[in-house]
Amino acid sequence: MNTLHRLDGRLYLEGVALDTLAERFGTPLYIYSRQALEAAYRAYAEAFAATPHLICYAVKASSNLAILNLFARLGAGFDIVSGGELARVLAAGGDPGKVVFSGVGKTADEMRAALDAGILCFNVESASELHRLNRVAGEMGKIAPVSFRVNPDVDPKTHPYISTGLKENKFGVPIADAPALYRLAASLPNLRITGIDCHIGSQLIDLSPLADAADRVLALVDSLAAEGIALHHIDLGGGVGIRYRDETPPDLAAYGRALAARFAGRQERLLLEPGRSLVGNAGLLLTRIEYLKPGEDKHFAIVDAAMNDLMRPALYEAYHEIVAVNERSAQAKRYDIVGPICETGDFIGFARDLAIEEGDLLALLSAGAYGMSMASNYNSRPRAAEVLIDKNEIHLIRERETLGSMMAGERLVD
Ligand code: LLP
Repeated sequence: MNTLHRLDGRLYLEGVALDTLAERFGTPLYIYSRQALEAAYRAYAEAFAATPHLICYAVKASSNLAILNLFARLGAGFDIVSGGELARVLAAGGDPGKVVFSGVGKTADEMRAALDAGILCFNVESASELHRLNRVAGEMGKIAPVSFRVNPDVDPKTHPYISTGLKENKFGVPIADAPALYRLAASLPNLRITGIDCHIGSQLIDLSPLADAADRVLALVDSLAAEGIALHHIDLGGGVGIRYRDETPPDLAAYGRALAARFAGRQERLLLEPGRSLVGNAGLLLTRIEYLKPGEDKHFAIVDAAMNDLMRPALYEAYHEIVAVNERSAQAKRYDIVGPICETGDFIGFARDLAIEEGDLLALLSAGAYGMSMASNYNSRPRAAEVLIDKNEIHLIRERETLGSMMAGERLVD
């Protein structure tokens, strides 16, 4: 995160000292850098400049309206997986004509909302979904744009919970079944075939599975063309990993070159659905140490952020770097950083060497993707606030949830 830097022992994001944000907005607090968000988007735009393309930001990674609006203004499209995400994109000023709708369980209501909005395409994941979409579109007197999400069965070499493109995963249709499904789609009256899609997994560190998936999809596109089924776009999904610790993620420019070579002379537009690589390293979670609990074998630092705020360590044993916001000259000790939730799984990081005291602030880095968007109210903890930094300007982009708003909607019975 290059917009994060230390000055006289204090940690800053862009021009703002993080300790001042904790005073003003409280903790836990998600903080994003506008510069880092925009730089990540521009890195994509540059890497793929040689190929006609559309970057459809995967809204699930971080769905705050301000963030969606920034990407929309840069020209992004969006990859959505629910009617809720569609509503967010529209509320943020996103262009529905640049929206692709993924997901294995689209409801008829969600299909209607997307058809009303006029999205770019539905990434259809089963024959049953195709029939439902055909029926819903027919009832509305509309033609639904269709792309199949194919499952290229390549091993993305990532955490099993975030790999999606193997044949045992629930996603997509087997690549071998795709020709028959395209023929079926061509025969249904209320559908228009527009493209093809795949997404093999997330936090991919190796470029080769992405290139292998592209080759398998392109071969399928060519065989469809040979039988007269022409596609307008080829969507290769998201998945590019980021550095959390010491990973060397795929070089975007190299990915861009690999795809440029494959797309040269082709008619179809390239679509990408990056989530994590656009926002992950543009955000952090600020938390305050409530208690230090010394132990015989190890020490605990109990902080005010928990698994409900940042679920990734508990769910995937994910590593997030943890740094002290204000440096101390004291000798570092080894701590497990844990939250206040009543679960052993409520940890943020193990065995971290830190010079800290009670009341100090910690920054949990690389928390911009799948942080706030996966937050919950577990243990009846109101969800954190979100702040966007733009040089020296501070924008509160989401208020801290209140106890009242958390309980609104619940009713007692007689
Ligand atoms: N497109 C589709 C259809 C997806 O399922 C996903 C992510 C993306 C795009 C964006 O992938 P990305 O570029 O972010 O890798 N919660 C997990 C990650 C789950 C990803 C699921 N699909 C985590 O915190 O690591």
